[in-house]
Amino acid sequence: MAWLDAGAADAFPEGGSRVDLAGHALALFRIGDDFYVIGDICSHAFASLSEGELWDYDVECPLHGAEFDIRTGIPQSLPATRPVPTYEVKLEQSRVMVKVDDGGVTDG
Ligand code: FES
Repeated sequence: MAWLDAGAADAFPEGGSRVDLAGHALALFRIGDDFYVIGDICSHAFASLSEGELWDYDVECPLHGAEFDIRTGIPQSLPATRPVPTYEVKLEQSRVMVKVDDGGVTDG
């Protein structure tokens, strides 16, 4: 696992953004100065959660409407029943850093 740079914090608008890091498709959500990262692909079928609408801490899948808590990845409504992965995120010198499995690159 390594902390990888997802970009400048200021570059992310409120709501969801798609980020690809070390082969991981991620959905990064900004709420004020807080950032949350989950897997971008819905656990029900193939849809991009970063394109979903955000209701407080729940993102609504744009395809069939399942909602996921962006803090835990746990679905809050059907038709999704399985969680999506969550990723640790931190700010470092105004950069958004995300902890991902990078396939063996030395931990930073
Ligand atoms: S693809 Fe997300 S709820 Fe069906």
